[in-house]
Amino acid sequence: MLILGIDTSCDDTSAAVVRNGREIVSNIVSSQTEIHQKYGGIVPELASRRHSEMIWPVVQEALSSAGIGLSDLTAIAVCHGPGLIGSLLIGCGFAKAVSFARSIPLVAVNHLEGHVFAAFLEDPAPEFPFLALIVSGGHTSLYLVESFGSYLELGRTRDDAAGEAFDKVSKLLGMSYPGGPIIDRLAREGNPKAFDLPRAYLPESFDFSFSGIKTAVRNQIQKTVNKDKEPLSEAFRRDIAASFQAAVVDVLVRKVQWAMDQKGIRRIVLSGGVAANSELRARMQQMASEHDAELYMPSIRLCADNAAMIAAAGYHHYLAGERAAISLNAKAYLPLGRAEAGKETTAC
Ligand code: KG4
Ligand code: ZN
Repeated sequence: MLILGIDTSCDDTSAAVVRNGREIVSNIVSSQTEIHQKYGGIVPELASRRHSEMIWPVVQEALSSAGIGLSDLTAIAVCHGPGLIGSLLIGCGFAKAVSFARSIPLVAVNHLEGHVFAAFLEDPAPEFPFLALIVSGGHTSLYLVESFGSYLELGRTRDDAAGEAFDKVSKLLGMSYPGGPIIDRLAREGNPKAFDLPRAYLPESFDFSFSGIKTAVRNQIQKTVNKDKEPLSEAFRRDIAASFQAAVVDVLVRKVQWAMDQKGIRRIVLSGGVAANSELRARMQQMASEHDAELYMPSIRLCADNAAMIAAAGYHHYLAGERAAISLNAKAYLPLGRAEAGKETTAC
């Protein structure tokens, strides 16, 4: 069974062919980083224009490197949200047109569900139930995944997503976009204890908050600039990067540990762009082995946005007999699953 996955939710145009929901035959990602870098963040209008230029070449490349044509496909799985609406519309419109013209079944996939299912593209795949921490530029959410299609949102960020905080701190330090990999690299040589930054643990809640850490970094930068009256030194940048990263990682690891204890589940999936962070991967690994838990961290290219994860989730929708109609719409806001009693779900 060959599924063509398509993801245009943010700033990467991606298409992939996945066999039987688990085996990646091709996974093409066309990055727009160069286009957005000079603006210090994603410009939605430029993103959707670039998607419309790239969608067909990227799909063609995914098919040709898989050595197949459209007629070999069992189904097309497209990400229909959450994300930037102009970007999502390109992928959805394209997928609907090909599905209609070539009579190929279409299934719709939630982007966050895709991040969860990235773990099924690796060996071994997790068994149900498991906890899934999805940390990216747009989301920071913790789910209890009971089975395919059954997602309970335990918590989510109340303000910035973790990746957004990395991107903003990079900008505050006068560095480029995306900030995550830059901070990660700088932090390796810095002292994580140099600055005592706040950790918002939000007791009794699985929610997250990262805006306080970001503000504390901004204040520290201001203080240093006012004191030294000269540009930020390399040593300062390294130390503030390491201290900031340590604070974010402390919160993420502590929350997952608490959820494991509360829910009695010792199986964790960590995915999303921020799951590429070297300190987060190391600390999560350490916590998992100390608590005798199984940890599933997809390889870095599968943690970031890619269409193979959409095809992996789409495979299960297809098996469940779900089909998207030609009226399928893109949705900027699209929560995954249900929320714990007394809470609202969110997605963006
Ligand atoms: O999942 P993703 O590719 O796109 C979204 O769905 O948002 O995540 C992108 C985010 C960006 O904020 C980027 O700065 C962050 O992931 N990121 C990292 C690292 N690599 C990418 N954050 C921390 N450390 C990294 N190594
Ligand atoms: Zn994503």
